[in-house]
Amino acid sequence: MTENVVPVKTLKGKLIPPPDKSISHRSALFAAISSEKSIIKNYSQAADPQSTLSCLRQLGVEIEQNGTQVTVQGVGRDGFSTPSAPLDCGNSGTTMRLLGGIVSGAGVECSLVGDESLSARTMKRIIDPLTQMGCSISGREGTFAPLQIKPHRGIKGIRYPLPIESAQLKSAVLLAGLFGEESTEVIENVLSRDHTERLLGLKSEPYGTGKIIRSSREVFIPAQNYQIPGDFSAAAFWLVAGSIHEGAEIELESTGMNPSRIAALEILQQMGAEITAENPRNEGKEPVADLIIRHVNLKAVNPDASMVPNCIDELPVLMVAMCFAEGTSIITGAEELRHKETDRLSAMAKILQLAGASVEEKRDGMVIHGNPAFTPNSAIYPSLHDHRMAMAAAVLATRASGVSQVEDAECTAISYPGFWAHLKQISR
Ligand code: S3P
Repeated sequence: MTENVVPVKTLKGKLIPPPDKSISHRSALFAAISSEKSIIKNYSQAADPQSTLSCLRQLGVEIEQNGTQVTVQGVGRDGFSTPSAPLDCGNSGTTMRLLGGIVSGAGVECSLVGDESLSARTMKRIIDPLTQMGCSISGREGTFAPLQIKPHRGIKGIRYPLPIESAQLKSAVLLAGLFGEESTEVIENVLSRDHTERLLGLKSEPYGTGKIIRSSREVFIPAQNYQIPGDFSAAAFWLVAGSIHEGAEIELESTGMNPSRIAALEILQQMGAEITAENPRNEGKEPVADLIIRHVNLKAVNPDASMVPNCIDELPVLMVAMCFAEGTSIITGAEELRHKETDRLSAMAKILQLAGASVEEKRDGMVIHGNPAFTPNSAIYPSLHDHRMAMAAAVLATRASGVSQVEDAECTAISYPGFWAHLKQISR
């Protein structure tokens, strides 16, 4: 499906961002390995977290879903049944990597498959440490899905300094570690999103420039009542859209404000954005606030590479903001963007060039020569079936000279099924 995006005069209104994708996955996975019943409120109805639910059902976990309320009858660490068909992770890297850690640790005989995009993403990053831990996990050409998992002879605790700043990798190792008698230790020098350790209550302490986190069979996994906050990564599209439209005022209710997720807010504020966080409070174990975004004239920024893991999913739409900023912005240290649902550095360079922006794609980032008066071409923007490319292109196109088109627009349902309706709702 191709979506027409009409340029808007301004954006005004109040939205509730969709439930957080990362936290939804984790709440379901952790509820499954507890021994009791958990209730999850505001579970994401987006395709990726739904893939996690369907995989868990295949593993014999009873799950009732009533709209956004999900009840999971935990089976405990050793209660999974052997699935009769491959577990289909769809487009979801988080499902494959986190569930991969769990089923490898549990030693459940199964295979994990994904769609074309997921099958082209490297899984070697989890295969290597999980194999060191004694898990039996292998992939096509040693790297890709389908992943084959077999029973093992026991999990060894390892001390694992993360070679890549990835929350999915960190989580996969810690989750497999939950099945070992010995302690597994993961060291991260640059802190990535901390939902896994936060929700499981894993012990961690400062270590070098970052921290060391431990897991083992001793960690008790309680049944929990989870309340999923709004997804900051989805909200980021509106933070940028509100900042680049004269007269805009957008309010985002109950948006997740986990400090390990909100570097994009800090970067936008460095650019001069007027974003205020009101009513700060906690929802479950996560901080949330209501965000108010008003238009300003943005200025260029060179975000420190150490911020990248905390805004990895927001970088594409930050690039859109940078096109409208006064001066040249430089993004570095973002090579990981090449390993997402698509190569997001090359995809964004293509989108921004089609719009007529002055950008240079680099091996690990992008140079963007901004212009507050920039008017993007009305173009046909390819999203390459990547939800975040489609939404970034849409935000860009709201300031175009005429009607634009975003291809494969239905892919926004991977993380934000209501995106197009929300855009129409606040367009003026
Ligand atoms: C996620 C971690 C990030 C992010 C992804 C969700 C998670 O991936 O891009 O959308 O839930 O842990 P990496 O850990 O591979 O950077």
